[in-house]
Amino acid sequence: MTSLESHAALRAMALRTLQRNDRGVFTTPSPYQYPHQWNWDAAFIALGWAQFDLTRAHTEIRSLLSAQWHSGMVPHIIYHEGASDYFPPPEFWQTRGLPHGGAVLSSGLTQPPVLASIVRRIHEQFRGKPVQDSFLREVFPKIRAWHQWLHTARDIDGTGLPCLIHPWESGTDNSPRWLAVLDAITPYDVPAYTRRDMTHVQPDQRPRTRDYERFVFLIDRGRRVQWQDASLLQTHPFLVQDVMFCSILHRADRDLCALGGEIGADTTDIERWIARTEEVFDRRFWNQAQGLYLDYDVRAGAYIPVNTCATFAPLYAELASPAQTQRLVHEHYNNPREYAPGEDTKYRVPSTSKSEPAYAPRRYWCGPVWMMTNWLTLYGLKENGFAALADELLDQSLRLLETQGIREYYDPRDGTGLGGTEFAWTAGLALDLLNLAL
Ligand code: SER
Repeated sequence: MTSLESHAALRAMALRTLQRNDRGVFTTPSPYQYPHQWNWDAAFIALGWAQFDLTRAHTEIRSLLSAQWHSGMVPHIIYHEGASDYFPPPEFWQTRGLPHGGAVLSSGLTQPPVLASIVRRIHEQFRGKPVQDSFLREVFPKIRAWHQWLHTARDIDGTGLPCLIHPWESGTDNSPRWLAVLDAITPYDVPAYTRRDMTHVQPDQRPRTRDYERFVFLIDRGRRVQWQDASLLQTHPFLVQDVMFCSILHRADRDLCALGGEIGADTTDIERWIARTEEVFDRRFWNQAQGLYLDYDVRAGAYIPVNTCATFAPLYAELASPAQTQRLVHEHYNNPREYAPGEDTKYRVPSTSKSEPAYAPRRYWCGPVWMMTNWLTLYGLKENGFAALADELLDQSLRLLETQGIREYYDPRDGTGLGGTEFAWTAGLALDLLNLAL
């Protein structure tokens, strides 16, 4: 097959994947594993839909925002159709009827705010179409309210860098960067529950029992304080600042500011968040000794000394200086003991450095390659002058998609597709990568 033919086949497979997961007003990430709407998945899914059907892309985003809480939070799981065989079911969160909650049943957590950046990409493609211009006016204030909530209600130290209260908020649930923090927590009074996430995916590709117990414990702690932001900041046992989340937010702030400019909105507060992040980011996340960006454990008042692919996110946010960029690329991205292909792996980017004791090439965020983090790293490399490395990552990513199908994640050793099948955000990301390959 020529590359033109294989790209056309991948495009058709991506569309079939979106259609397979289409529930009319929202799209499931995967037909069996995740039968509801997820926040950051929905953004990439909308980007995918936009390549075929702009109105359907708008519907995806409208559905996500219809669950926005009065506080401004946009939740991470939205149960538009009620319960399914997924755990946790909607009632488990105890979010129904909260005064600061939303109108649609949802989790009590949020997820990385990539939405503004996706809306900007869609807008750049369809600017000038009346339906797109009015869509932008409709969603802009809602996304701004979400960012404002992140920079204020989740701000504990005046930096405006939001705190996360659960590993699920990072989107990288069982990344070893969180496992180190979770290990220090001793769960108690954990409500009875039955895991359902291993019905469709093998247990060795999913979080361990020990980690899952802590995930449920943290949900219970949140619901005991009715998910009130001030109480969570004061007492919640898990409180971290995530370098990838903050990078995504910063990029999204800049994209939101540009979108605000287009519609003549007042962007003063957005400009303030941007300036503040630029001022505090390095102090909070950069580790000069290791040449890495590291997450921060707010409760312990310490860096989390774990090397994961989150360290490349500041490239995407354009927060890394030329000197920092050189170190990230030469000491880590190109290092075969960490992220580069070598005797043990063929594919980049392993989600956890191969040098970490907790690295596990098949287990969820402990090592597998994810298209989302490849996408983020690819843009980071491209926009920081590493065009050849970005092209190489694009080729590798497309090869994985074309040979292994549209999966949730991939084994960096031989590329084997893992986790959920017919994975909708992977389809959305594939469509965007195909546009780059044109
Ligand atoms: N990723 C989660 C799960 O595994 C929830 O966001 O169910």
